[in-house]
Amino acid sequence: MYCYRKVTKDLYWIGSNDRRLSMFEGVYSVPGGVSYNAYLLLDEKTVLFDTVDAAVQEVFFENLEQLLQGRGLDYVIVHHMEPDHSATLGGLILRYPDVKIVCNAKTANMMKQFFAFDVDSRAVIVKENDTFSSGTHSFTFVNAPMVHWPEVMLSYDTTDHILFSADAFGTFGALDGAIFADEVDFERDYLDEARRYYTNIVGKYGPQVQAVLKKAGALDIAMICPLHGFVWRENIGWYLEKYQLWSSYQPEEKGVVIAYASVYGHTANAMEILSCALRERGVKVRVFDVSVTPASDVISAVFKYSHLVAASTTYNAGIFVKMEEFLNDLAAHNIQNRTVAIVENGSWAPASGKLMRQILEGCKKMNILEEGVTLKSSVKEEQRMQLEQLAENITQSM
Ligand code: FEO
Repeated sequence: MYCYRKVTKDLYWIGSNDRRLSMFEGVYSVPGGVSYNAYLLLDEKTVLFDTVDAAVQEVFFENLEQLLQGRGLDYVIVHHMEPDHSATLGGLILRYPDVKIVCNAKTANMMKQFFAFDVDSRAVIVKENDTFSSGTHSFTFVNAPMVHWPEVMLSYDTTDHILFSADAFGTFGALDGAIFADEVDFERDYLDEARRYYTNIVGKYGPQVQAVLKKAGALDIAMICPLHGFVWRENIGWYLEKYQLWSSYQPEEKGVVIAYASVYGHTANAMEILSCALRERGVKVRVFDVSVTPASDVISAVFKYSHLVAASTTYNAGIFVKMEEFLNDLAAHNIQNRTVAIVENGSWAPASGKLMRQILEGCKKMNILEEGVTLKSSVKEEQRMQLEQLAENITQSM
């Protein structure tokens, strides 16, 4: 049965939620589910903004049919070809064979890679700053390459000042009936998931996000309609500021993320000692066992805080496998501009410290503290004092 919500007098949210998906893109856990947003404008022409993931296509098509009330679908604007938004295009063409597809040239080419239907006969190819009218609404287009794929484009409704922002400004988490960010306590209940979404989906592409923010800054935006998460119509500046921080790799807060890998608990014990020593100095600390906590959560925390402590036992003469995975993942997401301390453990030939340092030295603008700590099996009084000193050095570096 259809289930949609009104966004403005003639614009409707016709997406849906998936709470059964365990891993978004096969790699990011989504314990709170995820929403796939599509929007329908009922103007003199009918305009659909993207489609949805195949998982929620049934209710999407019911929403579309219910709202069209027998009218045809004139246009679908495709902002992003990733299948969580475009998988249903094939089904859309079968149901509405006369629909015109508004997209840029890169999107048209990708569409031909994903689908067998005739793209060229339906495509209305647009470029950045082109205009498009649906009757009472006019639109311009903004290229947003690599936010999150190269073909990504945003639309701006110059009539109602609405930015259709593709993946940008989205969040993990199902919507629980609320489609506007101001209907929930976003900062309390969704900001962590928004950060985790941002850092893992587009964190690597900070400069490209900065370029889009610059373009968006020139627009008078009253509302943002992303493809995941909430519609923004209040406090837009607050959310844009978060994007400014994240995309420029500036921490939101002073604090320390301790990420450790420990086989028999001794490295973990050292990090418990360090976390207590930091707290005694008034420093905010988050501690993660990278063998337990998914990398996407730890990466998100590293984007939030100013400092990172990486602690790992030595394993097969290298870094413990889960820590190596985490650090490589973190580096792949282009983390920059953090102060880092390294703690290694090794019962006969500690080597993880040097190797962790090599990975982190490959990241830009990292301040890696010279004085780390080496454990040989377990913490002794000498290492306890070194950990106290490390806590002091970290505190002084803030
Ligand atoms: Fe939500 Fe890049 O797709």
